[in-house]
Amino acid sequence: MVSCQGKPVAIIFGALMLHMVSAQNEPTIDASDHLILLREVHSPPITLQCNLTSTHNTHFDSYWMKNGEEVDGTRQPTKNTEFRLNKPRADDAGEYMCVFTFTQTPPANATIEIKAAPDITGHKRSENKNEGQQAVLYCKSVGYPHPIWTWRKLDNDLPLDIDNTTGRFFISNKDNYTELSIINLDIAADPGEYQCNATNAMGTTTMTSVLRVRSYLAPLWPLLGVLAEIIVLVLIIVIYEKRKKPDDVADDDEPAGPMKTNSTNNHKDKNVRQRNTN
Ligand SMILES: *[C@@H]1O[C@H](CO)[C@@H](O)[C@H](O)[C@H]1NC(C)=O
Ligand SMILES: *[C@@H]1O[C@H](CO)[C@@H](O)[C@H](O)[C@H]1NC(C)=O
Ligand SMILES: *[C@@H]1O[C@H](CO)[C@@H](O)[C@H](O)[C@H]1NC(C)=O
Ligand SMILES: *[C@@H]1O[C@H](CO)[C@@H](O)[C@H](O)[C@H]1NC(C)=O
Ligand SMILES: *[C@@H]1O[C@H](CO)[C@@H](O)[C@H](O)[C@H]1NC(C)=O
Repeated sequence: MVSCQGKPVAIIFGALMLHMVSAQNEPTIDASDHLILLREVHSPPITLQCNLTSTHNTHFDSYWMKNGEEVDGTRQPTKNTEFRLNKPRADDAGEYMCVFTFTQTPPANATIEIKAAPDITGHKRSENKNEGQQAVLYCKSVGYPHPIWTWRKLDNDLPLDIDNTTGRFFISNKDNYTELSIINLDIAADPGEYQCNATNAMGTTTMTSVLRVRSYLAPLWPLLGVLAEIIVLVLIIVIYEKRKKPDDVADDDEPAGPMKTNSTNNHKDKNVRQRNTN
């Protein structure tokens, strides 16, 4: 039994040694604290800092990432690195990361979050569709963390959850973007004001879109208008022609009259002829 107890102890001791060795190797980074961006007209500049404080490896270089993508022009071979935002705006909010790369070992990194209340920077103001068609409303935001999105419909200025008993409403959310599609539009139930609501731990905001639904016949109105115009035109021509007939008859009792349209000239000619005979 004694020999059996010795083994686990040795394993634990070995693991401890290994941990200490790796802890010694692990690079440490002193990074700026997370911060919150307030919605101000002129926010003061922000400087994010990362200092590589301990590493036994030969340091290679460092760079910055924002929301998982490398920021161009930030690579430099220094142990202390800074990222400066001179005029921070809501869309500067996000997840920043400094990365230090080494020749021998994997890179090390530290994350600094700049948080901000969501701000809706784009949305569909109005959508005009025919009944039976599909409407698509959307909103997109800046701010971090990405908001929780909800859609509501205004009922006498009171936002109510969307009634999806007909199963025609579809919502798709992608981080800073939300889309509400309504299929097979109902002219009685669907028109109105819809609100997208973006909420994160820092705050909340909302935007309103107007949905108008026209009747199936709506696209035919211009065509019907043209048809009506043609009918009226034809009627006018027909009536005009009918009213002209009596004149033609009057002209016809002159056997010599060569053409209807020259009837006035004929009269003139007649007068001239009469004068000549006098
Ligand atoms: C990084 O180092 C600089 C210069 O030594 C120092 O002024 C700064 O406060 C350090 N930053 C952090 C986040 O430790
Ligand atoms: C940052 O470090 C973690 C481990 O600490 C690693 O899993 C991750 O892949 C690193 N990310 C980058 C972008 O280097
Ligand atoms: C929305 O988020 C994606 C990645 O999550 C980013 O590439 C894009 O720039 C963001 N758009 C806005 C308006 O913030
Ligand atoms: C509405 O109902 C349909 C069908 O049941 C479903 O697929 C869809 O996800 C629902 N939409 C919402 C916003 O709950
Ligand atoms: C958005 O919805 C949340 C959760 O329902 C609510 O607390 C908040 O007041 C709404 N925001 C706005 C601006 O209406």
